[in-house]
Amino acid sequence: MPGNAGANRYSLVAIVLHWLLAAMVIALLILGPVMTDMGDDDLMLKFDLYQWHKSLGISVLILTLLRIGWRIMKAPPPLPAAMARRDILLARTMHALLYVLTLAIPLAGWVTVSASPLGIPTYLYGTVPWPHLPVTGEAAEAIAKTVHAALAWGLMFLAVGHILAALYHQFALKDGLLARMFPIGDPRP
Ligand code: HEM
Repeated sequence: MPGNAGANRYSLVAIVLHWLLAAMVIALLILGPVMTDMGDDDLMLKFDLYQWHKSLGISVLILTLLRIGWRIMKAPPPLPAAMARRDILLARTMHALLYVLTLAIPLAGWVTVSASPLGIPTYLYGTVPWPHLPVTGEAAEAIAKTVHAALAWGLMFLAVGHILAALYHQFALKDGLLARMFPIGDPRP
């Protein structure tokens, strides 16, 4: 690693968690609409897709909690010095919202399956039994379902904005921002 480039880079733990969570969230945002829109012709496949969705979603919840804990213990590298105050505020708000949504969406999904009168159990990756929250009733299920879907659509828009902002920094402003989220390469401008 050349010079003090490491000081301007995220830690390996933060980098691994970032890309792992990005891949899982993208998979969930595709899997969610696919499984809810499919008919009942193949109920076994539908059941499996829901179980995969729940497994990945609970993993996102746990990994996001770990990620926030890690971020508190190990501060991220400072934002580029040339960034305007308004842009810093925008970036911080976007990042905070991404954390809030990646916690709130799986929680709402968990409430949905817990409150469902169908009482379908959850087995993480087909093995680990996952408990239901103490919530019951069709009203709770309906509200949680609506919140889950609405926040997931919000996350889609936010994620697109997040990706465009990273690309703008890397290729238009050329301030090396995207390279900070990779373990190799020079993250300095
Ligand atoms: C970051 C994590 C998650 C994301 C991004 C996500 C995303 C989505 C999306 C986009 C849909 C389709 C919504 C629609 O258009 O109607 C959906 C549906 C659903 N999700 Fe998730 N989800 C996540 C976590 C979870 C978790 C942890 C659970 C349960 C333990 C869960 C349970 C469900 C269920 C049961 C549905 C179907 C709801 C219905 O019947 O309309 N999700 N999810």
